[in-house]
Amino acid sequence: MFNRFTLVIFCAAVLGAALAWVLSAPKMLPEQAIAQFPAGDAAAGEMVFWAGGCASCHARPKADDEEKLKLAGGAEFDTPFGVFVAPNISPDDEAGLGNWSLGDFANAMIHGVRPDGAHYYPAFPYPSYNKMSHKDVANLWAFLQSLPKVAEPAPAHRVGFRSTFAAHLDYGNCCLFVTKWW
Ligand code: HEC
Repeated sequence: MFNRFTLVIFCAAVLGAALAWVLSAPKMLPEQAIAQFPAGDAAAGEMVFWAGGCASCHARPKADDEEKLKLAGGAEFDTPFGVFVAPNISPDDEAGLGNWSLGDFANAMIHGVRPDGAHYYPAFPYPSYNKMSHKDVANLWAFLQSLPKVAEPAPAHRVGFRSTFAAHLDYGNCCLFVTKWW
């Protein structure tokens, strides 16, 4: 029966869902903030690269030495939501990030947002990088651009519809948004 109690529960659920949607909505850096990023220094960016463990996921699995600097992607992460695959983040125009701007990169690293405004899956551990300074982001970007281009695209993720929807809701940040607020 649709009595007053069920109505209150229904309204609370709708409000809760609306609040979760607003709190987890993708955010992007304003153009003005991006224009004020400092110039990047590739040598300093190399330190951020190794400290951030980027090669452990974005180099080809089992890559050694110099091969770790060829960021072809391909490492797979088998999760209950499906299999995620680390993408090619080399400076190749087609397979990698050759057409990206510093702003695209900064939005990915700081807000976990794709150039088209959608959220990344938390298989990309962007919540661990969102406290990075703008200087570190600019330096890291300069270093990535100095690396070899790899023309081979990484395989696509193998995930179901539910996970695709979840990425848009940013379920990772639903739990982690508190870290953005202090
Ligand atoms: C634990 C593995 C892991 C680590 C460590 C990692 N990434 Fe990723 N990264 C991923 C995965 C998986 C994705 C794909 C996410 C998606 O498609 O939603 C991704 C996506 C990205 C993207 C977006 C690429 C695109 O084509 O849209 C960029 C840029 C990126 N990572 C840069 C970095 C950098 C720089 C570092 C180091 C500071 C790093 N990642 C560390 C797993 C990782």
